[in-house]
Amino acid sequence: MKDSLPPRALLPTLLRTLLFPLLAWLGGIPGVVGVGPVHAQALPVDVLHWWTSASERRAADQLSAHLLANGVQWKDAAIPGGGGMAAVKVLKSRVLMGDPPDVAQLIGTTLTDWADGGLVLPLNTVATRQKWTQGLFPTVMDLVTYKGEVVAAPLGIHRINTLLYNRRLFARLGLPPPKTWDEFEVVARKLSGMGIKPLAWSDEPWQMATVFESVLLGEAGPALYRELIVQRKSTAWMDPRVEQALTRLRWLRNTSGDVPVERTWPDAARELWNDGAAMMIMGDWAKGELMAWGASAEKDFGCVAVPGTQHMHLYSVDTFAMLLSARQREATQEKVAEVLAGAPAQLAYNRIKGSVPVRRDMDVSSLDACARDSWATFAAPRSARVPSLAHRMAADEATKDAVAQALWRYLSNPRMEATETQRRLAAVIRAPNADH
Ligand code: BGC
Repeated sequence: MKDSLPPRALLPTLLRTLLFPLLAWLGGIPGVVGVGPVHAQALPVDVLHWWTSASERRAADQLSAHLLANGVQWKDAAIPGGGGMAAVKVLKSRVLMGDPPDVAQLIGTTLTDWADGGLVLPLNTVATRQKWTQGLFPTVMDLVTYKGEVVAAPLGIHRINTLLYNRRLFARLGLPPPKTWDEFEVVARKLSGMGIKPLAWSDEPWQMATVFESVLLGEAGPALYRELIVQRKSTAWMDPRVEQALTRLRWLRNTSGDVPVERTWPDAARELWNDGAAMMIMGDWAKGELMAWGASAEKDFGCVAVPGTQHMHLYSVDTFAMLLSARQREATQEKVAEVLAGAPAQLAYNRIKGSVPVRRDMDVSSLDACARDSWATFAAPRSARVPSLAHRMAADEATKDAVAQALWRYLSNPRMEATETQRRLAAVIRAPNADH
């Protein structure tokens, strides 16, 4: 008995492998919006991604159900690990061994390396047929277009500069959620005085980098942020506003005590849900996770932009690339792109994932308040839309990892000065061929 899985643990697997396909075949899965009857002979595609938390898994199941209803069977190749650190490594080794998945979660600038290598199926035909240029946000269209070819199917837009707060704890304090760092400090002091951790934190380098870029955007503003992250001007990294962001990052980290806590992001979110912490700075996938656990965006938690980043959207866009292989699945891969970028899959998937649809031609009024705000901010002409470095929107895998590592070293060593870290960041982020 010791080795057998408890029935509760078996349930998700049973649902996925038996019940979902059966229900979908019968004509619809409860909660799966707009999924019709299933084609008799579904064609399999191997999908490599890093969605393994409760909400990520459910969101992937939605996509899978929509595909099944359109004659495509999702063969799951999930690789656990927040931020996709492990998935990207597995993907590389599969490609090197001549066994690429048919569909891979490849996002941001990393897409271009794969497209340059001739490994990605161009999706221009689908994009033209579905009028992506008219229907999708221009920023999203730019991200999936490389050298005139459409190289990926967009799935959803995450907002990184999200501050989630626990409504119960804030109600007890009688305070509004902080809009400025001064307000944040007042709230943090009150919470600490009551023995409550102000911020759910993890010392995993990619999570630190995720918090840092939001803080940096707030301190630096969009113009300097672009110089630092998009143009990657190394001289700009010595700006006092970067020092200020690093100092604030250390202060935020220290609100969680001295002992390093490297834990997964769902574990950090769990602390917020259990009333162990009052706030969390994380991409809005953490909101999706809270909702998957039964939390309501109206009653249990709320979200606001990280202080200083109102009307700014620090984005990470999830995309699937279709990889070429000897299996020659092009027609099926095009089908995948078409179904996933279509309005029904977009709404159903993003509702669970915590992100928002990539389409500007959709009605998002049925989404939660955080999502509506994210979508409206992304859509507003006057908003600043800036790419996430920690989530591969602005630099390659190696640069992103080097930045996260530099931040980790800074936060793990209280004696390291912010200015020393600025110099390190300037060096690792230096744009290729830069002369500054
Ligand atoms: C992805 C999200 C994912 C998160 C945590 C991000 O890089 O864009 O889809 O939920 O990592 O793993």
